[in-house]
Amino acid sequence: MVDLEKIKQEFLAKLHALNKEADILNLKSEYVGKTGVVSELLKSLKDMNPEERKAFGPKANELKDYIQDQASIQLSKIEVEEINKKLAEDRIDTTLTDNIQVKTLKSGGFHPRTLIQQEIEDIFLSMGFDVLDGPHIEDEFHNFEALNIPADHPARDMQDTFWFHDPHKPEDKDSSGKKRLLRTHTSNIQARAMLTRKPPFRFIAPGVVFRSERTDASHEMVFTQLEGMMVGKDISVANLIYFMRTILKEIFKKDVEVRLRPGFFPFVEPGFELDIRCLICSGTGCSVCKQIGWVELLPCGMVHPNVLRAGGIDPDEYNGFAFGLGLDRLVMMRYGIDDIRHLQSGDLRFNSQFKLF
Ligand code: DAH
Repeated sequence: MVDLEKIKQEFLAKLHALNKEADILNLKSEYVGKTGVVSELLKSLKDMNPEERKAFGPKANELKDYIQDQASIQLSKIEVEEINKKLAEDRIDTTLTDNIQVKTLKSGGFHPRTLIQQEIEDIFLSMGFDVLDGPHIEDEFHNFEALNIPADHPARDMQDTFWFHDPHKPEDKDSSGKKRLLRTHTSNIQARAMLTRKPPFRFIAPGVVFRSERTDASHEMVFTQLEGMMVGKDISVANLIYFMRTILKEIFKKDVEVRLRPGFFPFVEPGFELDIRCLICSGTGCSVCKQIGWVELLPCGMVHPNVLRAGGIDPDEYNGFAFGLGLDRLVMMRYGIDDIRHLQSGDLRFNSQFKLF
């Protein structure tokens, strides 16, 4: 008779010496796998006489179940050991505040210009305007000609321009034969928008612009504007004033007094300078408004018929208004910043003063 007890003890001794999942599975199969020791014994039952079978069968089956159970127990034991080991090694003390990682962890902030731009975009979106984008490297058609500023027009002098110039090609032009430049204003997007949409439409286009200027506290070579345009039928100066006042009221969170002065821009007729009553001194005079009581904020006007024509729109059928908001000036007024150069400085100490997210 085979000694089942001996097989069992032998198995247990081997099992307890193992600590790898694969080894345990191999051992298990050595005993109860298809051709395992115990499996072979069970197969041999059929050759025994009934007496023997009766005595041996249940015991051999019991041993098979026992081996399977013990193997499973050993497997879960090493699994638990593995987990405990990991927990002990990768322990995180969440109560610790003095650790290096926590100290160096800094949360980012938005640039104040981004904060204001997002706010203004939301206001215009709620009034049905689209938000458009346009290229920084522009050709002279979209930046000037389409805006009623031909090559010999004195208005080109109003905006000191960075031209692209290849010294080997004195007349460096793009594929359409136009000279290229860094856009001097976001008004280039007026021309692009008109050529790709059908009136009525309204949009804003915020973005960075470039001027070849000497910098000082209120002038930068790189600054931001927010262009706006609304084209449709029977649009009037009254509509322009209504929109501007509503938007400024939303931006400054209070009623603002506005006034229009005539202003010249070749792409609008009539053109205006829209001033707001100084929010710092309420009009009594201070350094922000240079003692005038009014702050020049928003050039605007009724779109010139030539501009509509250049955009493929019939000025006898449609008209509209446009404006160019100086975003940097708005940021400066909102946060009391006295030098525009801070905005472009990239100094994180400056940025970190504004609302964090
Ligand atoms: N593009 C002008 C500038 O940069 C600003 C401007 C004035 C935009 C009048 C307009 C406008 O749309 O109607 O000085």
